[in-house]
Amino acid sequence: MRIVRDVAAVRAAVRDGGRVGLVPTMGAFHEGHLSLIRAARASCDLVVVWLFVNPTQFNEASDLVNYPRDEDRDAALAAECGADILFAPPVEEVYPDGFATTVTVGGIADVLEGAHRPGHFAGVATVVAKMLNMVGPDVAFFGAKDAQQVAAVRRMVADLDLPVAVEVLPIVREPDGLAMSSRNVRLDADDRRRALALSRGLAAARDAAAAGQADASALAGIVADELAKEDLAAEYVAVLDPDTFTPVTTVDRPALIALAARVGPVRLIDNLEVHP
Ligand code: PAF
Repeated sequence: MRIVRDVAAVRAAVRDGGRVGLVPTMGAFHEGHLSLIRAARASCDLVVVWLFVNPTQFNEASDLVNYPRDEDRDAALAAECGADILFAPPVEEVYPDGFATTVTVGGIADVLEGAHRPGHFAGVATVVAKMLNMVGPDVAFFGAKDAQQVAAVRRMVADLDLPVAVEVLPIVREPDGLAMSSRNVRLDADDRRRALALSRGLAAARDAAAAGQADASALAGIVADELAKEDLAAEYVAVLDPDTFTPVTTVDRPALIALAARVGPVRLIDNLEVHP
């Protein structure tokens, strides 16, 4: 596996590479990232892993400063999973002096994470548009934990006629249910235990929907009650159409329950599909 730092080098490396798969990441790899790299390896001729902690999508300075970084470990794991190229550009390569263009996605990106993290999705959409232009992949692989990111990226790809397929892989969870996240390493033992209320609440709501509870606010209440048992309050619990991210009042078809909550110093998100 080669580590590449600049656009010219990555373009030269992917030229004539056959079907190119891109795995966008901010590093600090866990099994979720590795599942994306393996999926890319299984279906593409050339696998490029993007590793860039994108400053423009962090709306809290402390979150950016504390974001875990370990490029050597990430490079070793990416190589083990069969990546061909680790594209890890410096900030100046992505945002050179005078950079002045932002991609904003309306609608989907304005609610939930968009409302609670001003500027977040403009940062995500801009950097994803840039990496797609830099690498020119046939397919880009995203994880379902960032469900709203996936919906916003799909919207952007369709709206801007970007010639790339978006493939989404399921959330990878710890054996006890916690959704894998690079930020989990910042939970102390007690917060790690309390954080299980997120996946427990979602599972309880899923079970209630399967047992006939179709009222979206009752399902959101089930999640909130589970969080309250650990003295946690959600920033939001929302029952949504998975494609448009518009609220659903009655679960009479598959819907997504998405939530965000602060556990100690860490803000976590999770989601689960529920079926009537
Ligand atoms: O999901 C992420 O890790 C980031 O939001 C992404 C897509 C790599 C953009 O910085």
